Amino acid sequence: MKPVRILSFFLTAVFLMSATDSLCAERTMIIEKNYLNIPISQSLPAKALSLRAEGLDPLTVQVRISSEKEDYWVFKDLTRYAGKTLVLTYDGPQEALDRVFQADTICGRSALYREKNRPQYHFTTRRGWINDPNGLVWHDGEYHLFYQHNPYGREWGNMHWGHAVSKDLLHWEEFDDALFPDSLGTMFSGSAVVDRKNSSGFGDRRHPPMVFAYTAAGRRATQCIAYSLDHGRTLVKYEGNPVIDSYERWNSGDTRDPRLLWYAPGKHWVMVLYERDGNSIYTSDNLKDWTWRSHVRGFYECPDLFELPVDGNPENTLWVMLGASGTYMTGTFDGFTFTPTGGKYLYTSGSLYAAQTFSNLPDGRCVQIGWGTMDQGELTPFNCLMLLPTELTLRSTRDGARIASVPVREVKNLFERRYTADGTLNGEEATAAMKGFSGQDGLHIHAILELSYSTSAGLSLNGQNIIDYDTNHNRLCGQLFFAQDPTSLSLEADVYIDRTSVEVFVDGGLFSYSLRRDDGKTEGDLRFWGPGITVRDLQVDTISGIWNK
Ligand code: FRU
Repeated sequence: MKPVRILSFFLTAVFLMSATDSLCAERTMIIEKNYLNIPISQSLPAKALSLRAEGLDPLTVQVRISSEKEDYWVFKDLTRYAGKTLVLTYDGPQEALDRVFQADTICGRSALYREKNRPQYHFTTRRGWINDPNGLVWHDGEYHLFYQHNPYGREWGNMHWGHAVSKDLLHWEEFDDALFPDSLGTMFSGSAVVDRKNSSGFGDRRHPPMVFAYTAAGRRATQCIAYSLDHGRTLVKYEGNPVIDSYERWNSGDTRDPRLLWYAPGKHWVMVLYERDGNSIYTSDNLKDWTWRSHVRGFYECPDLFELPVDGNPENTLWVMLGASGTYMTGTFDGFTFTPTGGKYLYTSGSLYAAQTFSNLPDGRCVQIGWGTMDQGELTPFNCLMLLPTELTLRSTRDGARIASVPVREVKNLFERRYTADGTLNGEEATAAMKGFSGQDGLHIHAILELSYSTSAGLSLNGQNIIDYDTNHNRLCGQLFFAQDPTSLSLEADVYIDRTSVEVFVDGGLFSYSLRRDDGKTEGDLRFWGPGITVRDLQVDTISGIWNK
């Protein structure tokens, strides 16, 4: 290297070091309160914030800490840090880090769940971004909803597993995050089971452990496990992680989202894992050592696999393999290989993604929750929502057995009947009956729409078409839809309206869709429209909110 070059290299290095030095802010505090409140400005670039305390794994996340007027506040639960000395370093200005403070409540507590765009009966997190539901499991009277969570911003990133618990699938209490990024990566999607026989050895038979499988998304994606002996309140990562590293097999980093299930006839565990172009099956006796068995192409991300009786007949069952977007195949499964026996179908469309079914439900139902990929509006301190929990069944149709998905019966507990039509109404009468309901936060509408032409007709909410049925193009609100009875012009619909979302279930749940409510149109009406439309069985219920404000 020439001397001039050496000098310029040296000067650049000194400049970079001093630039970084001047940007690297640091603070030390003894933790005496419950939360660390952090002001966020969405327009700033995200920078690394590190938290270090003795005896706890270090945590580094990317955060947009604001030195001046923040857009909103996020927080870190400090319960695990109580009494410890916490060292914070931030790869941004000291003035920004100086605004971070400890308190016994989170900033914005008084307005929590009352915020302008807060969905009233759909799960959302207190702060931050959510995507896929993870680790849905019932255990000892509690439904657990873990989920992809960025606690530090309203956009995707810093993936943790958030955690909420419910006794009725409707009212959720949110706990501290359950899985934090570590040296293997951030915490991508996965699932949970109750290991009743303690085959993993993590607990004992009297206190069966909950076992979780997740993807650590680091330099390469690997599959890891964790367990909990305190009903999901604390997850302990297995020291032998990762348990699967299949990069070489696929020559691809696209291996993720392990779905665990118990295969009773073979008395072994199954993991369905999304790998590059489809879903693989792995098996294990102890949830730690896994053997690859087979692969089905044609799926992307977040697999699910379960057995369902056709028309409720336990003698006639089919296995269903699901992909992330609501597409599925039915077929057979012998514990090692899933064999599709038909085509590929779709039961839902719109904003649903990465849905998962619960493990270990006590009543044998197959209950699913999907991620509603809807932005909640500019600068809300929370983003996206979980769609209503639905019960999945398999129904015989003239095209074969198909999934039907309807909201779980518990949702009716939130209903209050406000209107029941007397007989059949024409469009104007039905619209008049809806007067006063369009401003409601939570509304359920049941109606059978009778079209008299095969052209567009439906229902609009404050000017937005939430049902737009066109039997000429076979489209329902823009989605391809083929009704069970191809010559019928009637559509039986159950519509669920919340502050920011609409979910619509038709044909007894054989098809459903979800969409975001248009912003800014709070004035208007609920209008049945279309040439010669009539409305039968019109019923309206208000749906009460789930948050204990
Ligand atoms: C699906 C997904 C998963 C992944 C997770 C990361 O939405 O991309 O495949 O595990 O989100 O947040």
